[in-house]
Amino acid sequence: MTMTATAAYWDPLWARGRRYRQLDEPETRLLDEHLGPGRGRPALDIGCGDGALARHLHHRMGYRAIGIEWSPDALALAAAQDSADRPGPLWRCADIRNGDLTDLPEPAYAVITCRLVYRWLDDKAAFVNRVLRILVPGGIFWVVTEIADRRKNTDPLQNLGIGPAEAEILTAGRSAVRTHDLDVLRCYALRP
Ligand SMILES: C[S@@+](CC[C@H](N)C(=O)[O-])C[C@H]1O[C@@H](n2cnc3c(N)ncnc32)[C@H](O)[C@@H]1O
Repeated sequence: MTMTATAAYWDPLWARGRRYRQLDEPETRLLDEHLGPGRGRPALDIGCGDGALARHLHHRMGYRAIGIEWSPDALALAAAQDSADRPGPLWRCADIRNGDLTDLPEPAYAVITCRLVYRWLDDKAAFVNRVLRILVPGGIFWVVTEIADRRKNTDPLQNLGIGPAEAEILTAGRSAVRTHDLDVLRCYALRP
């Protein structure tokens, strides 16, 4: 079951120091394998939190990254890590469910990433359709999400995983679907 949470839910979590699973070497290897070098192409990270993935895309992989996030506290943490001599991604505060995506600096993206966010979106089909509209032809939608039933029943985080119907919304009708499992997570490389 999806639990809807507002930005007001996330703000105090970020402000109090709550952090989520960090990018590690196996995950960054999958990013290299599936997304390839950025060569200055635009990438959008949805629900970017404190910006680790957007910064990785931007500084390590060579994309021109933009992070979008509705929690001002998370975005402040993201922006605080940039410096004048090493400009980082652009940061935008918006609700990905209904914010004006035409307001973004680029009309379309070679790569759109969404890490540990999909589970929180109530209308997943509308979200996926919205995202695919701003992906360039041949672009990749990269989703990292926890899968249901991979944690013990006693684990307080066991409700974070998506079920088969929610996974189907991601994959049905796509021209290509590649997946990789990282313990409780599944990474999806999707082509429209
Ligand atoms: C579990 S955190 C993951 C953050 C980051 N992607 C990471 O991997 O560390 C989920 C993030 O999604 C953001 N988020 C959830 N729903 C959103 C929405 N509708 N629009 C923008 N951001 C959203 C939350 O504010 C939160 O920062």
